[in-house]
Amino acid sequence: MAFTVRLFLLSSLLLLPTYVLAQTNGSIAVGASLSTAGNSSWLSPSGDFAFGFRQLENNDLFLLSIWFAKIPDKTIVWYANGDKPAPNGSVVNLTANSGLVLTSPQGEQLWKSNQTIAGVVAHGVMIDTGNFVLENEKSAKLWETFKNPTDTMLPGQILERGGKLSSRNSETDYTRGHFRLDFQNNGNLVLRGQRPFYSTATTNGSVPGSAGLQLVFNDSGNFYILRVNGGHYNFTAEEHAAKDYYLRTTLCFDGVLAQYFLPKTSVGNISWVPLWSEPSNICQKINADSGPSVCGYNSICTYKADKMPTCECPTGYYLLDPNDPYGSCYPTFKQGCENEPSYAQDLYDVQVLENTDWLTSSFMQFNDTTADTCSQSCLQDCSCAVAVYSNQTCQKKKFPLSYGREDNNLNATTFIKLMTVKKKKSGTTLVHGGSVLLGISVVVIFMSGTAVCLGLFFSFRKKHARFPQNDLDTNLHSFSHKELEEATNGFNEELGRGSFGVVYKGIIKIGSGVQVAVKKLNCWIQDGEKEFKTELNIIGRTHHKNLVHLVGYCDEGQERLLVYEFLSNGTLANFLFTDTKPSWRQRIDIAYGVAKGLLYLHEECRTQIIHCDIKPQNILLDDYYNAQIADFGLAKLLMMNQSQTQTAIRGTKGYVAPEWFRNMAISTKVDVYSFGVVLLEVICCRSSVDRENVSEERAILTDWVYDCYHDGVLDAIVDNEMEALHEKTKLERFVMVALWCIQEDPSLRPTMRKVVQMLEGVVDVHVPPCPSPFSRAG
Ligand SMILES: *[C@@H]1O[C@H](CO)[C@@H](O)[C@H](O)[C@H]1NC(C)=O
Ligand SMILES: *[C@@H]1O[C@H](CO)[C@@H](O)[C@H](O)[C@H]1NC(C)=O
Ligand SMILES: *[C@@H]1O[C@H](CO)[C@@H](O)[C@H](O)[C@H]1NC(C)=O
Ligand SMILES: *[C@@H]1O[C@H](CO)[C@@H](O)[C@H](O)[C@H]1NC(C)=O
Ligand SMILES: *[C@@H]1O[C@H](CO)[C@@H](O)[C@H](O)[C@H]1NC(C)=O
Ligand SMILES: *[C@@H]1O[C@H](CO)[C@@H](O)[C@H](O)[C@H]1NC(C)=O
Ligand SMILES: *[C@@H]1O[C@H](CO)[C@@H](O)[C@H](O)[C@H]1NC(C)=O
Ligand SMILES: *[C@@H]1O[C@H](CO)[C@@H](O)[C@H](O)[C@H]1NC(C)=O
Ligand SMILES: *[C@@H]1O[C@H](CO)[C@@H](O)[C@H](O)[C@H]1NC(C)=O
Ligand SMILES: *[C@@H]1O[C@H](CO)[C@@H](O)[C@H](O)[C@H]1NC(C)=O
Ligand SMILES: *[C@@H]1O[C@H](CO)[C@@H](O)[C@H](O)[C@H]1NC(C)=O
Ligand SMILES: *[C@@H]1O[C@H](CO)[C@@H](O)[C@H](O)[C@H]1NC(C)=O
Repeated sequence: MAFTVRLFLLSSLLLLPTYVLAQTNGSIAVGASLSTAGNSSWLSPSGDFAFGFRQLENNDLFLLSIWFAKIPDKTIVWYANGDKPAPNGSVVNLTANSGLVLTSPQGEQLWKSNQTIAGVVAHGVMIDTGNFVLENEKSAKLWETFKNPTDTMLPGQILERGGKLSSRNSETDYTRGHFRLDFQNNGNLVLRGQRPFYSTATTNGSVPGSAGLQLVFNDSGNFYILRVNGGHYNFTAEEHAAKDYYLRTTLCFDGVLAQYFLPKTSVGNISWVPLWSEPSNICQKINADSGPSVCGYNSICTYKADKMPTCECPTGYYLLDPNDPYGSCYPTFKQGCENEPSYAQDLYDVQVLENTDWLTSSFMQFNDTTADTCSQSCLQDCSCAVAVYSNQTCQKKKFPLSYGREDNNLNATTFIKLMTVKKKKSGTTLVHGGSVLLGISVVVIFMSGTAVCLGLFFSFRKKHARFPQNDLDTNLHSFSHKELEEATNGFNEELGRGSFGVVYKGIIKIGSGVQVAVKKLNCWIQDGEKEFKTELNIIGRTHHKNLVHLVGYCDEGQERLLVYEFLSNGTLANFLFTDTKPSWRQRIDIAYGVAKGLLYLHEECRTQIIHCDIKPQNILLDDYYNAQIADFGLAKLLMMNQSQTQTAIRGTKGYVAPEWFRNMAISTKVDVYSFGVVLLEVICCRSSVDRENVSEERAILTDWVYDCYHDGVLDAIVDNEMEALHEKTKLERFVMVALWCIQEDPSLRPTMRKVVQMLEGVVDVHVPPCPSPFSRAG
């Protein structure tokens, strides 16, 4: 045995010079290898295609792939290890018994070619078609990339029934994405996202023989389904022969299947020209049934000339995850009927968008009207986010604005509300043009970032306040106990009980009635009148989209009540800990929201606020599942006149940082700890301590996740949830951030600013140490 191995090594050494020559005919001998460190690749005889490692953008990981070697952008047409990028120093070996084997420097096998036909590989060949083939002694094919496609097909390639293409996650992220092209066993070709949204429907039981047999990309550049009866279902109308053109058909990460060409002679003209795409306009395929498959909520899908969709946030909206241009957008301002002052329309303007519609979300329609009436009607209606005017009909739409799309066939004028600082002089100021829009969005961002924090923006509420300015200088409304008793119908409907008191649902009679949550504080220090006002001042000045808005308070005799806006979707605890798992994307959005709310409390507010009781029960969800932190500022209120170290523990079991028990100073890092626990709960959809539903070694979430992370089995913590596993790098990043947050030593925990940056992927996350080295060792 040892002899044979040595013989192999010897022959591979001997073959080394021949291997250089061998590049001329594309043949690669067994024993040859490529490493990420060198720059070498295996070229096809014409030099059109290369097989080797490509470094991924923005990191030092590598992809084993095949690419167009003569095109400047070196478009990748096949890749092996999209889900497991290879670290620097990895090697791919061509072996006789296992074909291609990709190994990391640590010796981990990252990928290997699957030999479907038993046999001993004699050599590999990089063919001029772009196919890399493993052949035996008799040049019979044992394995080929054409039979194991990723997201691209090339001329000469055939997909049999049961074959499929999978999209990648984004242009530069090769982990498996959201879309699939299935050539089903019944001969039908189906393009699917979360649900199928395009099908060629080539099967028709009543016409025997008409079903699809093969999906063919032939050398004339025709892409078609060959039917059982010999007929064709054509995708390609014009021919572009493969000898004159570079051609590819790719299932793009945004769900579009498209064929592209590039004349071989076009030196320097590097952009691929699309020939056709399916669906021809994917923005129009978005509908309520298929879910927000291309763009996220409140986003607008636009179909561009290159047959690819783009997703853009309307003005006044921004991307929830800046790294995910296809994700949901959120308004930088709060909109809706809660907190709506009587002259709110002065705060808004409308921007005009042509031919843009949101398919769902309509709540009112009226006919025989004018465009101006339509936009006015939306401005004056606090529920209205967008009005679409078309054919003398006005449709008003409310949040969340799902499935927005631009469509030139609509012949509609769309008015989208946005917040402005300008007081309108007369009538409606319609805002047109990019520069004006840009100006406004900058103002809106400025306001949400700075002025709102200082309480300036909502200062018009001051007129309601009963206290002179130096006493309670905020926008808070002072309610009488009687008013709140009426509003809550005698404290009738209980919403929940927290550490500070009971919360009741109520309706305040402003306009058509505003829903509120009234919190009756139960453990109030007796002579805290002045401190109560001071703290309310601080809470009242906070304004952030991830904080529950305090509307007012009541301070009569012994009674202390706080009036908050009511959030329709309950607590994060109820949302997470149910039988049906909320989607990964929704959970990611929630994690970002909580992190940003905490960052604001810690660093962006005039007075720093430590929450002290971050847990899923204190995080509420609004109409479109935007996370908002509740109960902030209260811990300080109740700790008044007590020195920090002797304070009773303010948090909740399972979420409290160790320093509470250790006579150590309490800092913002206690919130970072609790956030880490909540982040793990959001990732895993389970409670931090659970002794009933899971086995003993999984009972303590923080310990179990660290063990899984340490052992490299992240699949287990998300219970093999496909959506999360498709974003494995993000999943790993989130877990690592959480593990940093729950470090026993507060100085090791990052600040919330760092946490936000790490979650967003703006800064690198280093490998976290064991969170509790002392308690675990003992
Ligand atoms: C390629 O060239 C090598 C050496 O010149 C030769 O041994 C091999 O048979 C050739 N392979 C093919 C497929 O022509
Ligand atoms: C990979 O490792 C080699 C050798 O250690 C080094 O020269 C090269 O710069 C590294 N490449 C990257 C991208 O880190
Ligand atoms: C590797 O290839 C790149 C691009 O072709 C080139 O810029 C770089 O200098 C090469 N590095 C080495 C070490 O040959
Ligand atoms: C792969 O190739 C490298 C470089 O030629 C060699 O050091 C290594 O031993 C090979 N590994 C295997 C499993 O053949
Ligand atoms: C390898 O090929 C066999 C036979 O076709 C198939 O059952 C198996 O799923 C393949 N494995 C992988 C990892 O593709
Ligand atoms: C199947 O073919 C029959 C006869 O040509 C036609 O009437 C029917 O509409 C077709 N069904 C589908 C689903 O295309
Ligand atoms: C490719 O297919 C088309 C029919 O779709 C046919 O006309 C053409 O001859 C084929 N070309 C080759 C090279 O097979
Ligand atoms: C498909 O294209 C080929 C070649 O262009 C043509 O001969 C054939 O009639 C087309 N079939 C259909 C169904 O359009
Ligand atoms: C690139 O080629 C395409 C198609 O041949 C052509 O439409 C386009 O104008 C060319 N672009 C440039 C910059 O030459
Ligand atoms: C408006 O017109 C649509 C059809 O164009 C009709 O279905 C609807 O009933 C009309 N609504 C009113 C209020 O007249
Ligand atoms: C416009 O609306 C009228 C009735 O409100 C209807 O008769 C007409 O068909 C509509 N036109 C279009 C193009 O939708
Ligand atoms: C588009 O709308 C305008 C104004 O409502 C109308 O004059 C025009 O006829 C419409 N065009 C089409 C194609 O429906």
